[in-house]
Amino acid sequence: MSEVVHVPLGARAYDVHIGPDLLGCAGARLAPLLRRPRVAVISDANVAALHMETLTSGLAAQGITAQTLVLPAGEGTKCWAQLTACVDWLLDQQIERGDVVVAFGGGVIGDLVGFAAAVLRRGVRFVQIPTSLLAQVDSSVGGKTGINTRHGKNLVGAFHQPSLVLADTAVLGTLAPRDFLAGYGEVVKYGLLGDAAFFDWLEGQGPALAAGDSAARVEAVRRSVQMKADIVVRDETEQGERALLNLGHTFGHALEAATGYSDRLLHGEGVAIGCVLAFELSARMGLCAQEVPGRVRAHLAAMGMKVDLRDIDGDLPDAQALLALMGQDKKVVEGRLRFILARGIGAAFVTGDVAQADVMALLEEALAQ
Ligand code: GLY
Repeated sequence: MSEVVHVPLGARAYDVHIGPDLLGCAGARLAPLLRRPRVAVISDANVAALHMETLTSGLAAQGITAQTLVLPAGEGTKCWAQLTACVDWLLDQQIERGDVVVAFGGGVIGDLVGFAAAVLRRGVRFVQIPTSLLAQVDSSVGGKTGINTRHGKNLVGAFHQPSLVLADTAVLGTLAPRDFLAGYGEVVKYGLLGDAAFFDWLEGQGPALAAGDSAARVEAVRRSVQMKADIVVRDETEQGERALLNLGHTFGHALEAATGYSDRLLHGEGVAIGCVLAFELSARMGLCAQEVPGRVRAHLAAMGMKVDLRDIDGDLPDAQALLALMGQDKKVVEGRLRFILARGIGAAFVTGDVAQADVMALLEEALAQ
């Protein structure tokens, strides 16, 4: 049994199916979208080794043939060279305007293949089959696609909504625990930004969810996707409210940059630490009660996640350098940093009204701990 979250975006509306063992019935879900029984599937080496056969069998069960391209795993794949490789390959496969491209993997594959679909023949439809928790709860929904360039992450891309998302929660069982928990950072983000009851639920269910409880995983992904869908429908191209989804990201991106986008800090780990810092800053500015950051920190720590700067291996640059890295963030508007702060758990808001001195003091203290 799977859950369905509908994303009502008019002509670009689509469904997100969430549940175990969706790969095996992918053919039945994709068939209504297809004008001819063939798709192009792009994946990465790790995902393909574990799951490609299950997916292609699930497609073949409905008579759908799949051409497959397997790219190297890792963030480095989200680049101009691999975009060219994808687009050329799709043209070699004679993928037409009416065909469907399938992005089968984590956030890197989803962003890259979605962007390739957006530019191929000025836009072909694509289906997201996200295989990481991060991709299932965040990057596969909402239509942000793109690549990294030497200037930074995600600076080149397009809004291109998928036509369908299949989030197979059984696949999460093959993730390394660290990758699962990094994705959980994005799940917690949803509770923190807009749903206090969901955060309460996570405090209770988080351990079961991490241990593999299938129903808890489906429910966590469903509630996260529902919240994301609600926000995206109100602000598809991030003119305002969608920026709330970046809670924890201004600090997190700076920490990712400071650690060279390496294994020292995964994206979701940076987001989790960034959420703690955003709540600390909110408390210092008198926006939320002093005990709230402690509650955020306690839940992340109970889950065995990174919580503080000292949890990051190796040296970090000083507060001034971290602040400069925050200035590279896409959320800078007319030179002013925008922050997502909170009046409490589930009550985040976007503001440009933050004194640099307060951020410096927070970072200095966090580094000294
Ligand atoms: N990952 C943030 C967004 O989709 O807006």
